[in-house]
Amino acid sequence: MLKKGDLYYPSKEFAHSAIINNKKIYKDAGKNPIKFWEGLAKELFWFKKWKKAFIHKPPYFQWFVGGKINITSNIFENNSLGWENIKNKAAIIWEPEIPEERQRVLTYYELFREVNRFANALKRLGVKKGDRVGIYLPMIPEAIISMLACARIGAIHTVVFSAFSSSALQIRLQDTKAKVLITADGYYRRAKVIDLKRNADEAIKNTKVKKMIVVKRAGNEVAWNRNRDLWWQNLVAGESDECDAQIMDAEDTLFILYTSGSTGKPKGTVQTCGGYAVQAKFTGKWIFDLRKDDIFWSTADLGWITGHTYSCYSPLLNAATFVIFEGAPNSPTPDRWARIIEKYGITIFYTAPTAVRMFKKYGADILKKYKFETLRLLSSVGEPIDESSWKWYFKEIGKNRCPVVDTWWQTETGGILITSLPGIGPFRPCFTGLPFPGLKFDIVDDKGKRVSSNKQGNLVLLPPFAPGLLRGIYRNPEKYLKTYWRQCGKKIYFTSDAALKDKNGLIRIVGRIDDVLKVAGHRFTTGELEDAVSHISYISESAVVGVLDEIKGQVPIIFVVLKETTPVEKVQKEIKLQLRKEIGPIISTKQVYIVKDLPKTRSGKIMRRILRKLFTGEELGDLSTLSNQESVEHIKSVINN
Ligand code: PRX
Repeated sequence: MLKKGDLYYPSKEFAHSAIINNKKIYKDAGKNPIKFWEGLAKELFWFKKWKKAFIHKPPYFQWFVGGKINITSNIFENNSLGWENIKNKAAIIWEPEIPEERQRVLTYYELFREVNRFANALKRLGVKKGDRVGIYLPMIPEAIISMLACARIGAIHTVVFSAFSSSALQIRLQDTKAKVLITADGYYRRAKVIDLKRNADEAIKNTKVKKMIVVKRAGNEVAWNRNRDLWWQNLVAGESDECDAQIMDAEDTLFILYTSGSTGKPKGTVQTCGGYAVQAKFTGKWIFDLRKDDIFWSTADLGWITGHTYSCYSPLLNAATFVIFEGAPNSPTPDRWARIIEKYGITIFYTAPTAVRMFKKYGADILKKYKFETLRLLSSVGEPIDESSWKWYFKEIGKNRCPVVDTWWQTETGGILITSLPGIGPFRPCFTGLPFPGLKFDIVDDKGKRVSSNKQGNLVLLPPFAPGLLRGIYRNPEKYLKTYWRQCGKKIYFTSDAALKDKNGLIRIVGRIDDVLKVAGHRFTTGELEDAVSHISYISESAVVGVLDEIKGQVPIIFVVLKETTPVEKVQKEIKLQLRKEIGPIISTKQVYIVKDLPKTRSGKIMRRILRKLFTGEELGDLSTLSNQESVEHIKSVINN
C-alpha cells in the first residue's frame, strides 16, 4: 500500500490485477445508475429477462420487473463461471469448534446434491413456494444447505441467530407463521455443548410450526416428539439429488431477516430474489476483489445479514471457496482465528472492529509465529473502526501490504453500499469511503438540506437506491413508512446514521441517531432491552443507554426504579438472567444502577441523553425541558458511589 498524507492507496501490483481498478467506473455508473445495475444483472442467468429495470412508486420501488430468476441456479448449474469449471472445486470448508475434530469440505457439486435432496424433503413435507421456513442452526454446513434448499423451491427462509433465546425465536416464528423449523440437537461453544433443541422446543409453543427437522450435530440427548420431530439425516436419506429450481419472479421474496428497530419489537426486513442476487454477487466481487481461487473468510454468523450475504450467497455466486467456523474466535486459545487463517491459507478476511480490538488487546506476542502471507485483503464491518485499531489491523495482520476495506451497510440494504474499492482506494482510517458505483448518498440536516464538507448530518440514500434495499417490513407497512421514508419524504431512504464527508467525498460514519445500540457489532434497541427488564415484577421503570466500551464498541448500562427495596446484587443478577431469557447470552450489561427517579421531560419522556452524560461525566447541556431537576444530583451520586 502507498501512503499519501492521511490517505492510503493500493500498491501498483494490487491495483494492476484488481477486478476493478479504473476510477471511471464511478462516472460511468453515475450517469445512468439504472443502466449500470442492468449491465451487472445481465451477467446473471435469468429464465426470462425483465421488462423494466426500475419502477418507483414512493415509498415502494421494484427492480428487474417481470424478470424470472432463481439464485441457486446462479450458484450451481448456471453459474456465470461455467458449471463444468467449478463443479469439483471446494465451496464450503467447515471448521468445527473442537480443533481436533475433522473439518468438512463440500465441493460445489456435493453442495448442489445436498441442497436438492433437502429441497425434495421439504417439498415432501408440504413446503411450497412462498411458505416461510425457520432456520435456527449453528454455523454448520446444514445451515447453508437449508437456506439454499428453501431458495431452490421458492420457500422464504427466516434464519434466527443460534445464540438468540427461545423467546426471541418464538417472536420471529409467530410473526412469519413458519410451518417448519430446522434446528440441531446441539452445538459446541467454548468446548461445551449448547442444547439448541431445548430452546427450539420451548419456542414453538403458540406458533404454527408443525414439523421440526433436527440435525444431529453434538449427539447429546434431546427430548423427542414422534409426531413432530424428524432427524435431518433420516429425512434426506431416500431423497433424489435432483430438484428443478423454482422459477421465481425477480420481486418474489427470497428471505426475511429480523433486525432491531426503533421500538421494542424486531422487524422482519424483506429481501427479493432478483435485486438481492445482483447486489450480493457484485458487491462481493468488486469490494473483496473476489475470484474463483480465493479462500474467503467472513467471520459473521449466518444469523445476521453479513452472514447471509458474505458467509453464504456472495462467495457462492462468485464460485469462491469460503470458510465457516462453528466456534468463538478466541477458543480454545486467543489465536484460534490466526490458526484458521494459516490452516486454510485465507486470502480475504472480513470481520468486525470488535474482533480486531480483541485481538489487538491480546498483544502482538501471540501473533509472532504467524506470517499471514496468504492474506491479500482485509475488511471490516458493523461499527466504526477507530484509527488505532485500523492501523493495528493494517500493520500486524495485513503487514502493511493488504488494503483495509471498511464496509458500511445495514440489514436493510442487503449488501455493502459504502466503501473504497480495493483496486482504486483511497483508504482513510475511520472513513468507510465512497458510495459503491451507481449509488447516490447525501448528508443532510434535519430539514433535509445538504450540509457542507466535514459537517455532520443525516446519511440518506437517493433513488434509484440499490437493487438489494429492503422492499418492506414483513406484515408492517406502517413501520416501513415511518422508519425509512418519513423523515426526508417518501422518495429518500433515511439510514438512521449520522455521517460526514471529507473534501475527497469519503464518508465517515459517526453512529446511529436513533435508539439502536451496536454491541460487538450486533444490533439492539434500548426499547427491546427495557422491554425485557420490565418483565421483572419489582421493577417499575427502566432506561437503557449505550456507552462506549474499549472492546465491544458500545455496551448498555441500565437504570432502574424499583417498586420495593431489593438488594442491588439480586437486581443485577435477575436483570442478567432476564436479558438472557428474552434475548440471549450475547447481550450483557456493563452496569445496573438503582435510582429513585429517571430524568423526564414535562410530557413524561425519559431523557436518556442526560443519563448517558451523567455516566460519562460530560457537560449536561441544555436542561430546560427537564421537569425533575432534582433527579440529576441523585443519579450523579448513585453513579459515583
Ligand atoms: O450504524 C451503522 C453500523 O451498523 C448499522 C447497521 O447494523 P446492522 O443492520 O446490524 O448491519 C450490520 C452489518 C451490515 C448501521 O446503521 N455500521 C455498519 N457498518 C459500519 C457501521 N458503522 C460504521 N462503520 C461501518 N463500516
